[in-house]
This record gives sequence, C-alpha cells and structure tokens, in this order.
Amino acid sequence: MSLLMIGCGKMGGSLLTRWATSTNHTITIINPSLVKAPQGVIVKQAIDELFDQRFDIIVIAIKPQLIEQVLPLYRRHLADSGCIISIAAGYSVASIEKLIGEQAVVRVMPNLPAQIGRGVSGLYANSRCSAVQIDNAVALTDAVGYTHLAATEDELDRVTAVAGNGPGYAFEIARCWIESAIKLGFSPQTARELVLKTLGGSMELALTSKEDIENLRNSVTSKNGTTAAGLNALMQDKKLEFLFESTVSSAYQRAVALR
Ligand SMILES: NC(=O)c1ccc[n+]([C@@H]2O[C@H](COP(=O)([O-])OP(=O)(O)OC[C@H]3O[C@@H](n4cnc5c(N)ncnc54)[C@H](OP(=O)(O)O)[C@@H]3O)[C@@H](O)[C@H]2O)c1
Repeated sequence: MSLLMIGCGKMGGSLLTRWATSTNHTITIINPSLVKAPQGVIVKQAIDELFDQRFDIIVIAIKPQLIEQVLPLYRRHLADSGCIISIAAGYSVASIEKLIGEQAVVRVMPNLPAQIGRGVSGLYANSRCSAVQIDNAVALTDAVGYTHLAATEDELDRVTAVAGNGPGYAFEIARCWIESAIKLGFSPQTARELVLKTLGGSMELALTSKEDIENLRNSVTSKNGTTAAGLNALMQDKKLEFLFESTVSSAYQRAVALR
C-alpha cells in the first residue's frame, strides 16, 4: 500500500521510524524543512512534488492549527478507496470531513513512547471505514506499541486524557521524585538513575504480574516499616488520589472543549 505522511516532526518522526521497518507500505513524507528519514522512505518538501500521485493512506501529522489550511490541498492525492489517518490532538472527524468531504477517517492518539515501540495508541474509526482499512490502521498502531480500539470519539478523548497525555504526567512525577532525592543529598545524576530505574523496574514488574496494583503495593509494605512511613505521607487525606482525578478530568474537559 502507499502511505503519505503530511508533517514529520516529533510524533510523525517517531511513528515513521518504526513503520519504515515493520510494514511493507511504500512511504512518502512531506515536510517543509529537510528531515532525516529511514532508508526506503521517499522525502518531499512540497506538495507540488507529488504531481498526480494518489495514496491509499494519508496520515495527518502536522499541528492541528495548520490542518484547515493544508488538508484540502491533499484531497486529490487520496485514492478512491483511500483512508485518512489523523494523529492531530483534538481535531474531530467532523472537522476533517468538513475540509475534504465524507471519507474513511481514522483518528489515532499515540503517545511518545511510540518512539521505542512502547507507545499506547487510542484508535477510533468512523463508520465509512471498511474492516480492511481498520485492520490496516491497527497494524500501524500495533507496530508502535499497544492499541486500544475506541468505540466513539468521546472514548478516544478519554483515552487521550489517560494515555495520550500520560507521558507528561509520568515525567512530572519523575521530576518531583528526583527533586526529593536531590534534597536528600544525592547528585542530580544519581537521583535520576535511582528514580527512573525504580519507576521503570516497578512498572515492568506490574505489567508482567497478575496481581492487582494494590496487592503489589501491600506486598512491599511492612507494618511500621520505611515504605509504610513514606506511603503514609503520600496517601494522606487521599490528596494524591484527588489530584489524579482532577488531572485526568481536566485533560478530558480540554479535549471536549477542542472538539
Ligand atoms: N508530540 C506528541 O507527543 C503528540 C502526541 C499525540 C499527538 N500528537 C499530534 O501530532 C501532530 C504533530 O505534533 P508534533 O509534536 O510531531 O509537532 P512538530 O514536531 O511540530 O511536527 C510537525 C511537523 O509538521 C511540519 N509541517 C509544518 N507545516 C507543514 C506543511 N504545510 N506540510 C507538511 N508538513 C508541515 C513541520 O515542519 P517544519 O518544522 O519544517 O515547519 C514539523 O516537522 C499534532 O497534530 C499533535 O497534536 C503529538
């Protein structure tokens, strides 16, 4: 199949690196500034270099605020039974169809660990997508990690609030934890190693374990021990729980406002 990616920055580039090696698609990218692309990927800098080429899949990987101006120009480059895959945050299927008419549209919300094949992607396909088009889109998101199929766009917005934005939450938690280690007397480098390796290892363990998270937490907490002392502070008045509820719900409300 032929795939055109419009825009190849942080996220487009992350997807491209994996897609170039894990799919058989002929991939073309368009990006105004020169980008380093994996071997076999065709690189163009402007739409007129496409001449009359048409593509089975067009991936929108530009910033949402550019879509209105850029996407209509690509309509003639979509094959008759082609499919649009948009990774643009908060840009609804209805807004895309307003620009290019009724089409098979898949919205994907990937997250940054896609770069290392450990991403989590939410995927919503509109009713115009065939089973084959959905399978093709899922194969692309599976190539960069785990795929969650959303039944509605609202569910996609909720996946965004939990997972799409998740790396941001994870990095901020790690930053605070590292700061606390530095205050306890460790160098910034040692603090980073201690925290990131503890977080990474604990989450790897949780992923491979059948135990629920609460049991895992209890299994490392002895009565009156040091973990219990730390957790007493962390869990006091359920502040952390409330903070997370409001973090995720604020992100969801923002996604709703962007629709
Ligand atoms: N970053 C994330 O974690 C993340 C997560 C989920 C979804 N997304 C979505 O992914 C999309 C891209 O985000 P990003 O973070 O990758 O942004 P980015 O790094 O700024 O990449 C956007 C790319 O689009 C290129 N571009 C600008 N105008 C163009 C045009 N007319 N035609 C073709 N390419 C053009 C830019 O090239 P120049 O640099 O040459 O201008 C840039 O390389 C957004 O819609 C965002 O909502 C991002």
